[in-house]
Amino acid sequence: MAVASLKQVLDPAFEERYGVAAINIVDDLSLQSVIAAAEVLEAPLIVQTSLKTVKSIGAPVLSQLFRARAEAASVPVALHLDHCPEREWISICLQNGWNSVLFDGSHLDVEENRRQTAEVVQEAARYDAQVEGEIETVRGVEDGVGSDEGGLVHPIEISDGFIADTGVYAFAPAIGTAHGMYAAEPHLMPERVTELVARQPIPMVLHGGTGLAREQFEDLIARGCAKVNISTALKIAYTDAARAFLDANPAKHDPPSLFRHVSQAVQAMAEDHISMFGSAGKATAVQARG
Ligand code: 13P
Repeated sequence: MAVASLKQVLDPAFEERYGVAAINIVDDLSLQSVIAAAEVLEAPLIVQTSLKTVKSIGAPVLSQLFRARAEAASVPVALHLDHCPEREWISICLQNGWNSVLFDGSHLDVEENRRQTAEVVQEAARYDAQVEGEIETVRGVEDGVGSDEGGLVHPIEISDGFIADTGVYAFAPAIGTAHGMYAAEPHLMPERVTELVARQPIPMVLHGGTGLAREQFEDLIARGCAKVNISTALKIAYTDAARAFLDANPAKHDPPSLFRHVSQAVQAMAEDHISMFGSAGKATAVQARG
């Protein structure tokens, strides 16, 4: 039984300052492939689902797929709902066994976001689930959620108060990262992680992981980003591998060969990121703590 809560997976990562990969899967093939990567590296893992993926597959089916794969895995794996502005879907996912949710209230004013996030924290507690909070919009659109406009960055005191008042388990501060591919070198604000962790020692979440350099990951993780989100890199690995296979084999009509090819590419992408984040070999310690 390797299903773990977000807290079980992230508490030790935050204490020891390594990062746990939180990878957005899109189907069963990508789910299997990222779990295989975590098993090879003996690393804890967070499987994330966008709201779009939940709606397209359906919460009960997706949850059962996850459970079947995670229970058979040799490493601890948590299921997390990524950016979700819709309260109804937060409730549906919690009812269906998601271990944690990101209530994305970044489109609301901070006061209303605070009020609703506090409600979500109470609701999640009934399922022993955790909540990630966010008050600043991450630039870039992630599966239909978000905006290409740069969001407002609030003074650190506002985030500090939001965390204290809502009781979120993890927090995603604006640090200059963006969803999708970086068109130009991002202007990172790593000091915001340090300042916030000094005030509120809880796991911080790095959004927009795709395209950052190893040193940027290492620096942000060392400052307290224990959850490191990766989505675009999976989509690229998946679709590029499918395209390459089909281009190279125009006369072949064998889906299982295509699946194997795609799976290898997604697994390799996941292994690369997990290795960079420093969580290889940490699964046993997470399991031992229970
Ligand atoms: P990327 O798509 O840039 O990897 O960002 C993922 C993310 O932050 C999901 O919330």
